[in-house]
Amino acid sequence: MTSNNVLLKVEGIDVSYGDFQALRKVKLEVKEGTVVSVIGANGAGKSTLFQAISGLQKPSEGKISFMNNDITGCLAHEIVAQGISMVPEGGRVFPGLSVLENLIIGSYTKDARKKKTKLLRRTYDLFPILLEKANQLAGNLSGGQRQMLAIGRALMSDPKLILFDEVSLGLAPLVVKDIYKQIEAINQEGTTFVLVEQDVRRSLRASEMSYVMLAGEIVLSGKSSELSEESVRKAYFGI
Ligand SMILES: Nc1ncnc2c1ncn2[C@@H]1O[C@H](COP(=O)(O)OP(=O)(O)OP(=O)(O)O)[C@@H](O)[C@H]1O
Ligand SMILES: [Mg+2]
Repeated sequence: MTSNNVLLKVEGIDVSYGDFQALRKVKLEVKEGTVVSVIGANGAGKSTLFQAISGLQKPSEGKISFMNNDITGCLAHEIVAQGISMVPEGGRVFPGLSVLENLIIGSYTKDARKKKTKLLRRTYDLFPILLEKANQLAGNLSGGQRQMLAIGRALMSDPKLILFDEVSLGLAPLVVKDIYKQIEAINQEGTTFVLVEQDVRRSLRASEMSYVMLAGEIVLSGKSSELSEESVRKAYFGI
């Protein structure tokens, strides 16, 4: 699904951890209904970028807007309420809670709480395994199932935008294929995605726009169909 409305705009943000500057003048635009990839080596700043958008890190410079609202410096729960949800690295879930309890936690905002039953049904339709395992502890799920639960939890806040960190890391190829199929289905229904993915070929194939990060900066960006794998790999390694 494509439209020309800019949903998310990141304009020249800097983020530091103490003396260490992790993001420098990072600029990015995400159009409504699209899938955008962020590609970069370990330590490039991809997760920090997601944390800044989600309100978990505060930029010292720059601006982040979502649906034309300035959300720079908003608190994490306010940002979720506005419609941005993150699937954190490594499919992090609460291992000591059941699958259902993990999902319910995702719908803590006022608007999502009202639609909880509908959202739960949609999540189970997308990932039937989560219904099958609803009462089991999340800690007993396989890696792929945990990743599905993490996506399910993100969906439970009824987001307009999902920031998905490390889509396929550590997962078997068939599971990865399945997860991308579901990302596509969710995107078709109108949810916008920003994906972090280590697999360059897959990121280019799965997205309309790609941004390559190196040492805290965006060093290459463009339409995924117009970027060559080679140019992305070079940018990725800073060659
Ligand atoms: N909490 C923190 N305190 C200090 N430095 C941090 C912290 N989190 C990240 N960093 C540093 O900031 C830089 C960017 O880290 P970030 O996790 O954003 O990278 P990344 O691109 O997500 O890497 P990966 O592919 O390993 O997930 C790295 O040099 C990292 O060591
Ligand atoms: Mg990361």
